Amino acid sequence: MTPTDDHDWWRTAVIYQVYPRSFADADGDGTGDLRGITGRLDHVAEVGADAIWLSPFYPSPQADGGYDVADYRAVDPMYGTLADADALIDRAHELQLRVVVDLVPNHCSDRHERFVAALAAGPGSPERGMFHFRDGRGVDGELPPNDWTSMFEGPAWTRVTESDGTPGQWYLHLFAPEQPDWNWDDERVHAEFATTLRFWLDRGVDGFRVDVCDAIVKAPGLPDWPHTTHGVVEPVEGVMPPMWDQEGIHDVFREWRRILDEYDGQRILCAEAWLPPERAARIVRSDEMHQAFNFAYLSLPWDASAVRENVDVSLRANDAVGAPTTWVLSNHDVMRHASRYGYDGPVELEAGVGADDPQPDRALGLRRARAATLLMLGLPGSAYLYQGEELGLPEATALPDTVRQDPIWERSGHRIRGRDGCRVPLPWTADGPSFGFSSSADPWLPQPTDFGSYAADVQQADDDSTLAMYRRALDTRRSLGLGSGSMTWLPSPDDVLTWSNGAVVVVGNFGTDPVPLPVGEVLVASVPDAAADGVLAGGSAVWLRVDDQG
Ligand code: GLC
Repeated sequence: MTPTDDHDWWRTAVIYQVYPRSFADADGDGTGDLRGITGRLDHVAEVGADAIWLSPFYPSPQADGGYDVADYRAVDPMYGTLADADALIDRAHELQLRVVVDLVPNHCSDRHERFVAALAAGPGSPERGMFHFRDGRGVDGELPPNDWTSMFEGPAWTRVTESDGTPGQWYLHLFAPEQPDWNWDDERVHAEFATTLRFWLDRGVDGFRVDVCDAIVKAPGLPDWPHTTHGVVEPVEGVMPPMWDQEGIHDVFREWRRILDEYDGQRILCAEAWLPPERAARIVRSDEMHQAFNFAYLSLPWDASAVRENVDVSLRANDAVGAPTTWVLSNHDVMRHASRYGYDGPVELEAGVGADDPQPDRALGLRRARAATLLMLGLPGSAYLYQGEELGLPEATALPDTVRQDPIWERSGHRIRGRDGCRVPLPWTADGPSFGFSSSADPWLPQPTDFGSYAADVQQADDDSTLAMYRRALDTRRSLGLGSGSMTWLPSPDDVLTWSNGAVVVVGNFGTDPVPLPVGEVLVASVPDAAADGVLAGGSAVWLRVDDQG
């Protein structure tokens, strides 16, 4: 059975990200797997999502959590089999959940057969043409071909040893050395990915989240670029970095779009591109991708005017090209928002927190996170949720350094802890080995000892829980059509945002003092005590049904 035929489902969809390694483990080896996910899909449907997006589950040496893909058209045995993937897709569709999978086109694993062949074939070979191989600079080619740095620290180039044992050419990797970048100037790369798209579309997936899609085309000649980029990519002195958002990416997106449009239903492409809203909107023109993540929104501090400005800019940019705006607060790359908002100052999204670092204020972080979520879900467009945020799960901020897996930890010389803290396996039950994640008491990343207090089964029974708030909000969002609505700002004091979306007035108080509320029926409140006696408490949000919005 396929989900009900709604051509424009993606314009308003709430898409729940599943990180397969940490969602649920059916075979008891301490690592999540596809059967585990299938067994827990009811939870996602009950939360009220419209779709799931699965981070990579393809064969991979896991040098970068599966974003180093060795085979795009298979399932890693640690996650199961292709039959398990088929069963997952079927079960999701039965539950009216669409399925989006991850496409990783900027780079593969150094164990991918094409890269292995390129290494063996030697300089100047057609096999090397599928990647960016260059001779080094310096007298003996001992220096990298240009000055680009990897997103995971250190040079973006690695020198290979040729088959005769001599030091040879260099290859480009914007991420880890185990992730060589494909050369999208080579037609065979286009053919590879067309085959991969069709492979998964034929199996019934509803779309692709496209990893680092804005980096696939590099500026001709790979010119030097002595700057580093973190977070949303901004032009430097009016020039975009030569590895980000080059004009040629759009032709590739159009090519992929034509493939998707050959299929029935509406299959979608969602761009992972850390670009400002105005630039990301160029990716979602009508013949390119359908959606792009709004990472500028995710990066905002807890600040009313910053949120307002982003909402205005994002809606304007996307409206201009007829695309829905998307909203997101957490994913597998950034500190969970329940912890981010527990700090007073700005937070480095991907840097991670160690046991000896300043710790977030948990209660404050969760309170603001629930408010932030309610505000996000009150906006028109599509929203992305990250597994565990519906439980108010905090970042694991005291992981022992010895268990860290994010490649940036090693590559930064143990300076940057990285993203493991948001990837810890989920707590499903208050008790039991690994809180119901697995029958093993030894999951691939250790869970904080108090994770059981966030468990889904505990929250299920509690009407005031974070889970209950997510369910109520998503139910109300759907029944009142907030995703397909439009928003209008209403007057409000400093530190407060108020807008109408159809019959609903959304109010968020970013300050600490209570503020007066419009008269109306409380539909959803971020915390039980948020709206009482005509006022909205600090650090909270509410949806009201107000008959006269005048
Ligand atoms: C994306 C992924 C991230 C990965 C990187 C390289 O940003 O979300 O997890 O490390 O791409 O593939």
